[in-house]
Amino acid sequence: MTDSLTIIRPDDWHVHLRDGDVLRTVLPYTAKTFARAIVMPNLRPPVTTVARAKTYRDEILAALPAGADFTPLMTLYLTNATDPSDVEMGFAEGSVTAAKLYPANATTNSEHGISDIKKAYPILECMQRIGMPLLIHGEVTDSGVDIFDREAFFIDRALLPLRRDFPALKIVLEHITTEEATAYVAENGGRGTLAATVTAHHLLINRNAIFAGGIRPHYYCLPIAKREKHRQALVKAATMGEAMFFLGTDTAPHVDAAKECACGCAGIFTAPTALELYAQVFDDAGKLDKLEAFASRNGPAFYGLPVNEAQITLKKGRGEEIKPILTQDEQTITSFAPPSPLVWRVG
Ligand code: NCD
Ligand code: ZN
Repeated sequence: MTDSLTIIRPDDWHVHLRDGDVLRTVLPYTAKTFARAIVMPNLRPPVTTVARAKTYRDEILAALPAGADFTPLMTLYLTNATDPSDVEMGFAEGSVTAAKLYPANATTNSEHGISDIKKAYPILECMQRIGMPLLIHGEVTDSGVDIFDREAFFIDRALLPLRRDFPALKIVLEHITTEEATAYVAENGGRGTLAATVTAHHLLINRNAIFAGGIRPHYYCLPIAKREKHRQALVKAATMGEAMFFLGTDTAPHVDAAKECACGCAGIFTAPTALELYAQVFDDAGKLDKLEAFASRNGPAFYGLPVNEAQITLKKGRGEEIKPILTQDEQTITSFAPPSPLVWRVG
């Protein structure tokens, strides 16, 4: 039995760090484990220009604990009004790493997103030409489509035509949740133009968990967790260690007051124990030997970055304790608790 595992220090390729008080509260958890993170731009108002991405980056760096070794990789939030020359300039100077496509109203803070993908074609042409990754929240927003089918529909209706029109565009399908998405990425990824991130929570819960004994707001996120067969497909895909699947927690903190109410918002906060949660999944699948590829190698390879030099050690035994965290103005943020207790801890 393996009770200690040392891997290259990982990166998190999908993180919501927020701003202000919440940023200062949650950032240390991501920065202690992950060397780099792709920072999502869905602030209020969203990060839509390179100038704004730079000020946000400065705010993140200023919020880092002393001695932290962490690099935020910034993203732009695409809108119908995004200027391709701003995107190109920001990518060339290294101040933005990728751009995020939220279909308008697909998820938390996405009302400024793209309403018609054709409107984004000039930007996508530019991104394809310069090799800048497009990160996609892959759900259709048509209210006539069942919430559990929105990702699978997105592949057929939006992703296939998009990839036909932009065959060389680098695309990351973010936080995949279905058998359909896993199969599509497994088949078409691995050539440097298509990959997917997988969250820890989608590897650990299915949709029953959201309603176990009552409604569980801290298991609600978008894309919503699906049936058990989909969770199993995700576990199989992530633990293969193949290049097209890598770690992206989608850790999405909201204060409890915003989740535990009549219209609670979507987002699961996993940052405090993110790597431990993934270790649990890989251990349960008998695939701990693939964790380093998934967490530390495949992401940098896709983004064309070197792997990190440092290493990190996980130990098995008494797992990290799950507890709510407190913002400076005394609001609680509940951390994701897996269905069975954690048995891994970092350090
Ligand atoms: C995210 C958030 O809260 O910003 N919520 C979520 O449920 N994942 C937005 C997102 O990534 O969809
Ligand atoms: Zn997200």
